[in-house]
Amino acid sequence: MQGQLLKEKGFLDIAPDPCLDLFAEISKLKKEKNAIVLAHYYQDPDIQDCADFIGDSLGLSQEASKTGASIIVFAGVHFMAETAKILSPEKKVLLPDLRAGCSLADSCSKEKFSAFIQDHPDHVVVSYINCSAEVKAMTDIVVTSSNAEKIVNSIPRNKKIIFAPDKHLGSWISKRTGREMLLWDGSCMVHELFSKEKILQIRDKNPDAKLIAHPECESSLLELADYIGSTTALLKYTEENSSTVFIVATESGILHQMQKKNPSKTFIPAPPSSNCACNDCPHMKLNTLEKVYTCLKYEQPEILLSEELIKKARTSIVRMLELS
Ligand code: 13P
Ligand code: SF4
Repeated sequence: MQGQLLKEKGFLDIAPDPCLDLFAEISKLKKEKNAIVLAHYYQDPDIQDCADFIGDSLGLSQEASKTGASIIVFAGVHFMAETAKILSPEKKVLLPDLRAGCSLADSCSKEKFSAFIQDHPDHVVVSYINCSAEVKAMTDIVVTSSNAEKIVNSIPRNKKIIFAPDKHLGSWISKRTGREMLLWDGSCMVHELFSKEKILQIRDKNPDAKLIAHPECESSLLELADYIGSTTALLKYTEENSSTVFIVATESGILHQMQKKNPSKTFIPAPPSSNCACNDCPHMKLNTLEKVYTCLKYEQPEILLSEELIKKARTSIVRMLELS
């Protein structure tokens, strides 16, 4: 019955009793099962508030590799939970909704990527962590937005580099390092949507505001930014910078931690070009507090990978952790 539900929907569609205090229940289950909840900054505030660790892709991978827990509930998207499983194969890794994918990871199929690599031999293959385990298995070094510059700089200058799958992060790293790189043509559906015109209008009204942006944004937006960095770096900047108003060009979930850590500061989400007022990642937002609860209670959906794939994909991730 549960297996059938999972197959059809990608998550356990079992509504918890509405009388339950889900925060208390999740906390009880975590203790009983020696489980932890790892959450990305783009998750709903409720999920962030029940997490044991909230972080960017690098922080979450580091945490997954060293936790003593037996079960990891990964409140994030599929490639993140897969990375946790690759780093901790002996643990049970759960993803509240298996459909939580990523437009960047989806842009880079293993078949096309394999052909691309074969067409360009003699290149060091650097892949952004936002890719499938199969792509990681074809990669020399995985990077995240917080360590890509350092890792690319560590590659000998006489080596040619393939950078996949995010062309915007790739071109920003290329400018920062002065390294020409062969870029895969992928992008994030959320970070490409911001409207420069609307951002400039907000800036006109708030001349002291700092525009902060994730490097997955287009270069024309990054050129306007006062600060560019991974989600953790952006959060740190809002704590350390003396400005009191920030225009935030990344997924809106991060505003929860920014506001929590800086209660007296104002955070304005950068608006997208569409009429929609939000800049939510539809994949990240498939996870809900209810799904976190049911997935921990029934220990499903679980991330399952073959031993062979784990072995092949692990090397490029471990190399990244060593270089971070
Ligand atoms: P970081 O949290 O590593 O900056 O990544 C952002 C992102 O888009 C994750 O999908
Ligand atoms: Fe992927 Fe973009 Fe969503 Fe991050 S925000 S998971 S890069 S689609």
